[in-house]
Amino acid sequence: MLRSCLAGLVLTGLSLAGAAAADLAPMQPGLDYHSFANVEQFRVTRLELDLRVDPYFKTLRGVVGLQIKRLDPNATELILDTRDLNVSDVTVKAQDVLGATSKSETTWVSRPFHFQKKDPILGQALVIEVPPSTKPTLFVRIDYETSPTAPALQWLTPRQTAGKKRGFFYTQSEPIGARSWIPLQDTPQVRVTYTATIHTPTDVVAVMSAKNDPKAPRNGLYTFTMPEAVPSYLIALAVGDLAFKETGPRTGVYAEKPLVKAAAQEFADTESMIETSEKLFGPYRWDRYDILVLPPSFPVGGMENPRLSFITPTVIAGDKSLVSVIAHELAHSWSGNLVSNATWRDLWLNEGFTDYLESRIVGAVYGEKREMMERVLGLRELRDDLARLEPADQILAIDLRGRDPDAVFSAIPYEKGRLFLTYLDAKFGRDHFDAFLRGYFDHFAFKSITTEQFAAYLQENLLDRYPGVVSRDEVTAWVSAPGLPDDAVLPVSGEFAPVDQARAAWLGGGLAPKRLKLDSSGWAAQQWLYFLDNMPASLSTAQMKELDQWFEFTHTANAEIGHSWFLLVIRSRYQPGYGRLEDYLQTIGRRKLIAPLYEELMKTPAGAAQAKRVYALARPGYHPETVAAIDAILNPPSEESDEQ
Ligand code: BES
Ligand code: ZN
Repeated sequence: MLRSCLAGLVLTGLSLAGAAAADLAPMQPGLDYHSFANVEQFRVTRLELDLRVDPYFKTLRGVVGLQIKRLDPNATELILDTRDLNVSDVTVKAQDVLGATSKSETTWVSRPFHFQKKDPILGQALVIEVPPSTKPTLFVRIDYETSPTAPALQWLTPRQTAGKKRGFFYTQSEPIGARSWIPLQDTPQVRVTYTATIHTPTDVVAVMSAKNDPKAPRNGLYTFTMPEAVPSYLIALAVGDLAFKETGPRTGVYAEKPLVKAAAQEFADTESMIETSEKLFGPYRWDRYDILVLPPSFPVGGMENPRLSFITPTVIAGDKSLVSVIAHELAHSWSGNLVSNATWRDLWLNEGFTDYLESRIVGAVYGEKREMMERVLGLRELRDDLARLEPADQILAIDLRGRDPDAVFSAIPYEKGRLFLTYLDAKFGRDHFDAFLRGYFDHFAFKSITTEQFAAYLQENLLDRYPGVVSRDEVTAWVSAPGLPDDAVLPVSGEFAPVDQARAAWLGGGLAPKRLKLDSSGWAAQQWLYFLDNMPASLSTAQMKELDQWFEFTHTANAEIGHSWFLLVIRSRYQPGYGRLEDYLQTIGRRKLIAPLYEELMKTPAGAAQAKRVYALARPGYHPETVAAIDAILNPPSEESDEQ
């Protein structure tokens, strides 16, 4: 009902995306404000994709067959989400329109369809006219082509790859990008199984978030099945000159040849991470867990595509120091992929749970010290965001109406979510909380749920079962109030005390750098990050030079440490660091690593000029979503357009 009102708003030209949250009725939990799909009338249950990957025209072209469950016999419009798709034909099975007696199963007839007005954030509703029917199932085929500028797709030239010989193509659908390469119900509350036939040039390999066959012949034809039902944002495809290396009985790494050996070494602990997770959270229900290493332009650290996590190569530091990203994406196999957020407002159910699970895996596999250091660094990110964000955006179940769902990806769902679960863990005790978690994953397996459904389950299975430990109001405050509750259980790490001492001593001039080097021998990457992140806003050239001479930060192989160092380079105007900074910005496209550097550069006129010059070179190599983010930093919307 509300869904059609919203579609109506868009139809009449009053964009839903432009409407301020306050103008709208109270928010309805479970209603996805970021999809046009009429999910109360139809539910897609299965996709059959047949797509040709055309790197020359930068398009995917082909057909998707949708198997649809009809919930409303009177419904005459099937509304799907799309973005910049060119649809040439929509057909349904003849028997579905003409009655059960006629024609064979395979006869398809065209149906009328039209697009509604384009919304800048949500894309375009595709409305397909279907006759009313009492049949429970409907099959629809859509012939279509994607746009070369589809935001979920990146097309890389051979030069932009490690091997330099062949192009690379991949999708990044979360949160609402899937509609730019498949017309579907692009809402996480709809789950589908799928099959796919992918046609590629013959010199590359295709992989998907599905059953992959590492031994598939390179003949330009790849077929996939995905037997587990997943939300649309977890459908993923990548095509490139990929090699495969096994890392365990059910784990392996796909990467370009020059990287595959280093990747397999870096990710050698994946199988033990799975074993740990199964002990803690219940069985791994996706058969295999493989890792795909993307080119450096990949816009996120990792993406939890089922059976095949997509990972940035910037995680390969050579010493496994950044593999908590793997623990994180693997943990999504329980929180996120098995139990998914029903709408983007509920993202914390994916990311907060996953951060908590990640900590548990890291603690079990790499020890409590490392776990605590990483949690302390995470808390720092949360504090920064709490200082930066409006109170309304500090709550876990955020109101995202009228906004790009990308706005939800702050430290709030991640770190505040993790602290909420840490709090429950501390209050109820590990044994009770672990049993609760396992029960939660079993109970909601392969379902998509709202914050309210979680809260009700929590009430029944933890709060009511052990009365007097945590009250309903305390849970409500965690979920719906800004800031952090006073009794949050915050991480502390003893490993940072010597780092603080060394830094203070060095800053105070009491120690020569030589001593500092001695004192810092054996420091973990997390300690170095803490060392740099807590420096004064800027240092003198002499100080920067001293640090660089001893620790060679400018040439670090660790992309996270590089990020922290280059922030200091910019703030301290440390000229010898600028050359590498420019290389860094031109090779890495991971938003979290580069956006803060551009922001820092933009604070001075000279820096802004440099940012613009480097960005002009780097921009063609960035992913469309990174481009959008950096464009906004370099050309911030003017005050006037803000007020509109
Ligand atoms: N699901 C996210 C990736 C994502 C983020 C997709 C934002 C779309 C928008 C993934 O699980 C994630 O959280 N990745 C983190 C790494 C993690 C260790 C916190 C990232 O990319 O930094
Ligand atoms: Zn995540």
